[in-house]
Amino acid sequence: MIFELSNPLTKTLITHLRDKNTKAPQFRHTISELTKQLTYEALKEFPLIDKETSTWLGNKNYKTIDEEDIIVVTVLRAGMPMLDSAMELIPNVTAGFLAMKRDEETHKSILYYDRLPECKGKTILLVDPMVATGGSMCDAIELIKSRMPSKIIALNIIGSPDGLETLHSKHQDVDIYIAQIDEGLNKDKYIIPGLGDAGDRSYNTED
Ligand code: PRP
Ligand code: URA
Repeated sequence: MIFELSNPLTKTLITHLRDKNTKAPQFRHTISELTKQLTYEALKEFPLIDKETSTWLGNKNYKTIDEEDIIVVTVLRAGMPMLDSAMELIPNVTAGFLAMKRDEETHKSILYYDRLPECKGKTILLVDPMVATGGSMCDAIELIKSRMPSKIIALNIIGSPDGLETLHSKHQDVDIYIAQIDEGLNKDKYIIPGLGDAGDRSYNTED
């Protein structure tokens, strides 16, 4: 399932991201706001449990998402503001990290570090803003699946139709929530119109 957000506010924030005058702090903040929109949508049907809560009226059971069932896995670097945002919204989740870099020549992703907590039986929210060829997301999902989670949900900001098709056809069991599906890829496999390099835009490393 691929779900694209359609709220006018989402489009407005995406336009802020495309604007090359948007500086790194506002860029990261906007990624963060879009991540919250994606997280609300992705968890809309998430089951609730009863949790004994110490309140001013004494101990009572109240409904909550089982936050400890959720692991947010981020793909460095560009996924970092998305992880921070998801953890502001659901503070008791656990975090996992995958460090990946696309090779500039082959455009294939290379995994050079992973630090995942125990994933068995957990729900994984995998966050990475860009789905260009889809290679990074596919590699991330294959690695996570080898750790036997119960479910993987992908949260992405901008994707190309081809990258999303690759991702969806290889991993039909992964629900994909995305803020914007763009037109395509250029010869360097950058998303068009996209926003440029999300990692560079976030961390001031553009040439
Ligand atoms: C970006 C992005 C994805 C990947 C998408 O990371 O965050 O991980 O490219 O491309 P793909 O769908 O073709 O695999 P990048 O390699 O630029 O690293 P960065 O986050 O450090 O900038
Ligand atoms: N990575 C990015 O940050 N942007 C793209 O358009 C493609 C890969």
